[in-house]
Amino acid sequence: MVKFLLNQSATVIDQIDPNTTVLDYLREHLYRTGTKEGCASGDCGACTVVIAEAEGDKLTYRSANACITAVGSLHGKQLITAEDLKHNNQLHPVQQTMVDCDGSQCGFCTPGFIMSMFALRKNSQTSDPHKTIESLGGNLCRCTGYRPIVDAAEKMYEVPCEDHFSRSEKKVVEALNTINKEQPEVALSNAGKHFFSPASVADLANLLLEYPQAKLLAGGTDLCLEFTQFLRDAEVLIYTGRVRDMAQVKLTDQYLELGAAVTYSQSKDALVDLYPDLHELIERLGSLQIRNQGTIAGNVGNASPIGDMPPVLIALNAQLLLRKGEQTRLVAVEDYFVKYKVTVLQTSEFIEKIIIPRPEAQQLFRTYKISKRLEDDISATCGAFSLQIDQGKVSDIRIAFGGMAEIPKRAQHCERAILNQPWNKQTIELAASELAKDFTPITDFRASAEYRLSVSQNMLHRLFLELEQPTIQPVRITQYA
Ligand SMILES: Cc1cc2nc3c(=O)[nH]c(=O)nc-3n(C[C@H](O)[C@H](O)[C@H](O)COP(=O)(O)OP(=O)(O)OC[C@H]3O[C@@H](n4cnc5c(N)ncnc54)[C@H](O)[C@@H]3O)c2cc1C
Ligand code: FES
Ligand code: FES
Repeated sequence: MVKFLLNQSATVIDQIDPNTTVLDYLREHLYRTGTKEGCASGDCGACTVVIAEAEGDKLTYRSANACITAVGSLHGKQLITAEDLKHNNQLHPVQQTMVDCDGSQCGFCTPGFIMSMFALRKNSQTSDPHKTIESLGGNLCRCTGYRPIVDAAEKMYEVPCEDHFSRSEKKVVEALNTINKEQPEVALSNAGKHFFSPASVADLANLLLEYPQAKLLAGGTDLCLEFTQFLRDAEVLIYTGRVRDMAQVKLTDQYLELGAAVTYSQSKDALVDLYPDLHELIERLGSLQIRNQGTIAGNVGNASPIGDMPPVLIALNAQLLLRKGEQTRLVAVEDYFVKYKVTVLQTSEFIEKIIIPRPEAQQLFRTYKISKRLEDDISATCGAFSLQIDQGKVSDIRIAFGGMAEIPKRAQHCERAILNQPWNKQTIELAASELAKDFTPITDFRASAEYRLSVSQNMLHRLFLELEQPTIQPVRITQYA
């Protein structure tokens, strides 16, 4: 059974297909049709809901795409939908400012925008244009135009944040803590399909031994597309989001360790502290809704050649702690991918944590993502570069690309052309030409083979220019005026 709060009402789900998404549950089981379905693939934001979780004596509100959130993952959380915002027959201040700013026309996208704005308002006291754009980047509107919506998202700060959610926060935290304490075993079974939500890594490992055919579900931002786009249901789902030991972000003297259930939103600060250049990449990875749910372990586990984090992790020489039953082994991310969508992961084995070395004193790191749209778009190619320059010579270099081969992989010819060479334009030109030996990219709807190779070569030139002339600042369109 799965227990959660639907707004303030304790709700139990028992008999339901475990592949059901929160969107289908809301619309088809509860007839709460305020949450809309646009794309059913996490792209448009029409289905945005807010999921609140108790952290200490406070609630953390996060926007999420209901269309790719499995219903079982709601256990111990509060689900808030557009219907819950109005109170005592009065619109919520976020809704009222949207009306005042004429931020809605056909209205189809509006509940999704409102929920993204609501999460933003609950998490911040003052307007910040960057955060506004970040929060709305995963919501599409085909008729209003974004100006009035952005205006509303900035104007909503003129009304005090105190609302019926703040007034009931203490009560909600208590109720969520009670649910989480009283029911360590969480499971759903229906018509031969099962959902398990273990609380410890040992239980997760045992479940995977018992059900070797099970699919691991982390944020579901890749996996749930199997249900909604390809109509391929999983017989057994094992959710990692409640595994305490895998929810940790730990910084040691040598490493940053990210448990496999840690989301992008939860790991961003720690990653950016160590490698500031990751800031832009992470903010351009999916949308805020995707980053609130998605995990780096899921990005690696999905083994897509165009995932953004594998090239970064390979360039940073990160490792994966893999576990099967009680056995664990360390595998370099570089060695994890075998061929298209095939990895070294054995049956019943899983990623327990990701171990990223702290930067060396002289280490330089850059990463560049090339996609058609700036926000919420998958890469055509993504390059990651880690190097050390000692007295004008390159003493260490690791370069990795996504989108250039059937797996994310190192550019070894290119690296060889740079290692122990003077850091100058000639070296970069030779290294760029060597890239053609490392990769034979394909042409698809994201980019042609020629473009992929050429833009990757240009990344090397950009790296050189940025490191040579640190005053050159690339235009970051995410910094809206
Ligand atoms: C709209 C949209 C935009 C996106 N944009 C981007 C983008 O810009 N860049 C990008 O790289 N990706 C993008 N993605 C893809 C996706 O969000 C990422 O790959 C994300 O990191 C997946 O993480 P998850 O936790 O949601 O994984 P899930 O969907 O839960 O799982 C993905 C796969 O990994 C496996 N898995 C999960 N956890 C483990 C584990 N602990 N051990 C072993 N296997 C595991 C699952 O079984 C599954 O096969 C986007 C997706 C959507 C829907
Ligand atoms: S319906 Fe489009 S993001 Fe969910
Ligand atoms: S108001 Fe019509 S899609 Fe946004």
